[in-house]
Amino acid sequence: MIKVKKRRVLLLPGDGIGPEVIAEVKKVINWFNDKKSLDFEIDEDLVGGISFDKHGTPLTDEVFYKALESAVIMLGAVGGPKWDGVEFSKKPERALLKLRKELKLFANLRPAICFEQLVNASTLKPEIVSGLDILIVRELTGGVYFGEPRGIKPIENGERKGVNTHTYTSSEIIRVARVAFDLAKKRSNRVISCEKSNVMEAGQLWKEEVQSLHDKDYKEVELSHMLADNCAMQLVRNPKQFDVILTDNLFGDMLSDEASMLTGSLGLLPSASLGAKNKDGEMRAMYEPIHGSAPDIAGKGVANPIASILSFAMALRYSLDLDKEAEALEKAVQEALNDGLRTKDIMSDKMKEVSTSQMGDAIISKLQ
Ligand code: IPM
Ligand code: MG
Repeated sequence: MIKVKKRRVLLLPGDGIGPEVIAEVKKVINWFNDKKSLDFEIDEDLVGGISFDKHGTPLTDEVFYKALESAVIMLGAVGGPKWDGVEFSKKPERALLKLRKELKLFANLRPAICFEQLVNASTLKPEIVSGLDILIVRELTGGVYFGEPRGIKPIENGERKGVNTHTYTSSEIIRVARVAFDLAKKRSNRVISCEKSNVMEAGQLWKEEVQSLHDKDYKEVELSHMLADNCAMQLVRNPKQFDVILTDNLFGDMLSDEASMLTGSLGLLPSASLGAKNKDGEMRAMYEPIHGSAPDIAGKGVANPIASILSFAMALRYSLDLDKEAEALEKAVQEALNDGLRTKDIMSDKMKEVSTSQMGDAIISKLQ
């Protein structure tokens, strides 16, 4: 097994706005190296469509091995219409799915926090979203995105059939549920687990395993179950009823996009994808903004770097045990917002519109 290098940060900017937002993260990392004498070793490489264009594959073996050796991977975004016609196995998104699967990053943490300064940026009424602080824990290496059999095949009557398989084993459910319960204990101690146990056997198993883990090891945490479609509705009806939402890969993908809009912009939300700790306490992890590659605004310098910068704050906290530095970085983001600085996606009346790099610089100046 390849050893993880504790301070190695691998930047994989990827496609679309990925390079613009990761450039700001790089500035932040360099600031920590220069000013705080931290010794992050930065490496940078290609992933996604840009890798496909250069190497004919969205993830080369070389980059994959670098990822294996890195404690922290900072990913920008992958994909875009340019690669729509590319064969399925070479699509930019396959790189992301391969990294998640092969590095066994089974727990995806997606916080949705509504910053007070941005209450009006949400399409929902301020009283519905103000003070919102939800954490979605999405299972990331199982379910319908990975299940076999899969594919598109011809069938007798001249039609074709598309197949994907939704599967979960007990252990896949239990390990991610443990992460959710452990995190809930550090928050408001409530977990709502979402599935479709009314129509799917895998959902039924999900519900049973989560409940029995709770009864065995986490009795002190308040657990309830909710059907995923109801959860989608409740998230816009009364989002503050949630603390930790535990859900599978597919529903987590949907519900986290939905939750992001409660906070005003997809451009604000970070995420962490965590693996299991090995016996030396080391863990592989990848951090990425939840917004995609946003090809429509790529290259214009208007993308919001906050989601990426907050993703690095998560890396400081979860991978590098640098809680104080994580808090300082989060506070710097708040202060830049307090100064009225806004990228285009969160721009509102009387605020000052800034570019991607101006926002990055402002956050760094607040760190000083
Ligand atoms: C996400 C994205 C990815 C996913 C895509 C880009 C493969 O939507 O991280 O939510 O479906 O998981
Ligand atoms: Mg998604």
